Amino acid sequence: MNYHTSVLLQETIAQLRVAAGKQYIDGTIGGGGHAGAILEKGGLVLGIDVDSDALANIKKNYQLPIANAQLILTKGNFKDIDTIARENEFESVAGILLDLGVSSHHFDEPERGFSFGHEALLDMRMDKDLRVKAGDLVNVLTKNELIELFTKLGEEPFARPIATHIIEARKIKPITMTTELAEIIKKAVPYTKKINPATKVFQALRIAVNDELNNLTEALPKAVTLLESGGRLAVISFHSLEDRIVKRSFLEFAADGLGTIITKKPIIPENNEIKANSRSRSAKLRVFERI
Ligand SMILES: C[S@@+](CC[C@H](N)C(=O)[O-])C[C@H]1O[C@@H](n2cnc3c(N)ncnc32)[C@H](O)[C@@H]1O
Repeated sequence: MNYHTSVLLQETIAQLRVAAGKQYIDGTIGGGGHAGAILEKGGLVLGIDVDSDALANIKKNYQLPIANAQLILTKGNFKDIDTIARENEFESVAGILLDLGVSSHHFDEPERGFSFGHEALLDMRMDKDLRVKAGDLVNVLTKNELIELFTKLGEEPFARPIATHIIEARKIKPITMTTELAEIIKKAVPYTKKINPATKVFQALRIAVNDELNNLTEALPKAVTLLESGGRLAVISFHSLEDRIVKRSFLEFAADGLGTIITKKPIIPENNEIKANSRSRSAKLRVFERI
């Protein structure tokens, strides 16, 4: 099975203006699609991912560039991009990419617990070294904390009835499985044909378990200082919470005189990409260039 279909691949590589011999940091190497395109153009890549499965897959598929030291891999969190870059002598780079969120692999591997369609333990950790799993949040948070989580990180309009149903179900036994939680949510919200009613709650839990918004907020100012003059930071986001952070951070960088926002409006996928890969439909690419 394809590990992950890269989103906005051509657009991102064009924006990074990849040049042979220059250094690039891929902070979310995932299935390696974007990194592979940078390598093909002769760029040198420092590839980071929190997920050891992703890195094992890259090691298998990119043996030659690894052997040639064209690709360096590190398990780590992009919130530590400054330290990781320094340790690997990637301190003044031509481009940085953050392609946020999970890869298709995470949804395709039932035991990772990201998908409401596959029966699995409620896990959702991208980094298996993290201690708190989605199931811990579902069973430990108070009703008000659940409501706040589903509202803030899932923008779920039925947060209150869902939290009430979870508390009731929890009184009988802990909620441990993805499908169990999906069933509880289904009972709590009015029927809709459009999207699975569990979508937003699963998104909220995933963002919380992996601390995704704080990681991004922390990483962006560090990333921008690692760019050489004319170097570009490209960020692909998949929902409005992330996109808002990217947009605001870029505005702050511009106001601080650090460089220019290249994408006054975000770049979004063409219709044919959305048709071929429905996950791309919410993607937004924003680019900042260092002065
Ligand atoms: C959308 S995928 C990247 C796909 C990649 N661009 C490609 O073309 O195959 C996102 C990847 O980022 C990783 N990730 C998410 N948050 C991270 C973080 N804070 N630090 C490092 N890696 C992270 C995930 O484990 C996942 O493998």
